[in-house]
Amino acid sequence: MKNVIELKHPLIEHKLTLLRDEKTGTKEFRELIGEISTILCYEAMKDVKLKTVEIKTPIEKMKAKTLEEDKFAFVPILRAGMGMLDGVISAVPNAKIGHIGMYRDEETFEPVNYFFKVPKGIEKREVFLLDPMLATGGSALDAIELLKGKGVKKINFLCIIAAPEGLKAVTKKHPDVKIVCAHIDRELNKNKYICPGLGDAGDRIFGTK
Ligand code: PRP
Ligand code: URA
Repeated sequence: MKNVIELKHPLIEHKLTLLRDEKTGTKEFRELIGEISTILCYEAMKDVKLKTVEIKTPIEKMKAKTLEEDKFAFVPILRAGMGMLDGVISAVPNAKIGHIGMYRDEETFEPVNYFFKVPKGIEKREVFLLDPMLATGGSALDAIELLKGKGVKKINFLCIIAAPEGLKAVTKKHPDVKIVCAHIDRELNKNKYICPGLGDAGDRIFGTK
C-alpha cells in the first residue's frame, strides 16, 4: 500500500512480542509503547526538511543542519495515544502538542469525539497523529477529518499495530496521509479487536481493567 510504512527490524519484533504477551504488566507495557513510539517517530520524520545554521565547533566554524522543532505538532488520540507521547517528545522536545478525545462505542464500534484542542497556527504545521491501534480506521478517519477541517495539510499517522481493514479505509479516503506502523496484523475479530493484537491498548497502558 502506497504511503504505508511497516517497520521491519529484529529489535522491534522483540519489543512487540513483549508488548503483546498478556503476562506483561502495566509498567513494562507503558515503557515498551514509549520505546517503540520513539522509533516510529524517527521513521516518520526521516524526510523532514532541515534548516542550515552556522555554528562553531571547538575546532572551526561550520554550516550545520537543524530541525525547526516548532513546525511540528504531535496529536495523541485519547486515551491510548497519550501512551505514545513521551516517546515522541524524547525525539522532538519542542514540538507543539494537541489532543483529540475519542472513544469507540462498544456496540456500534463507531468513534465518539469528546474533545478537540490543537495548538494555534496548526494549519501551518506538519502533524503527527498518535494512536497505538488502527483497527476499523473509524477513529483515525474522524481525527484526520478534524485536522483537515482546521486547514492542516500534512498529516502522518503513527501507530503500533494496524489491521489491514483500517489501513484500507484510511488509505482509500486519505491517500495523502503517511501511515507508519510497527506491525500489520492479520485481521479484526467480530468485536473489531485486532488479531493477534495486544488487547485493549488504553486499558493496558492505564491499568483500568
Ligand atoms: C482504541 C484505540 C483507537 C481505536 C481504534 O481506543 O486506541 O483509538 O480504539 O479503533 P478503530 O480503528 O476501530 O476506530 P478506544 O476506543 O478503546 O479508547 P481508549 O483509547 O480510551 O481506550
Ligand atoms: N482498540 C484497541 O485498544 N485494541 C484493538 O485491538 C482494537 C481497538
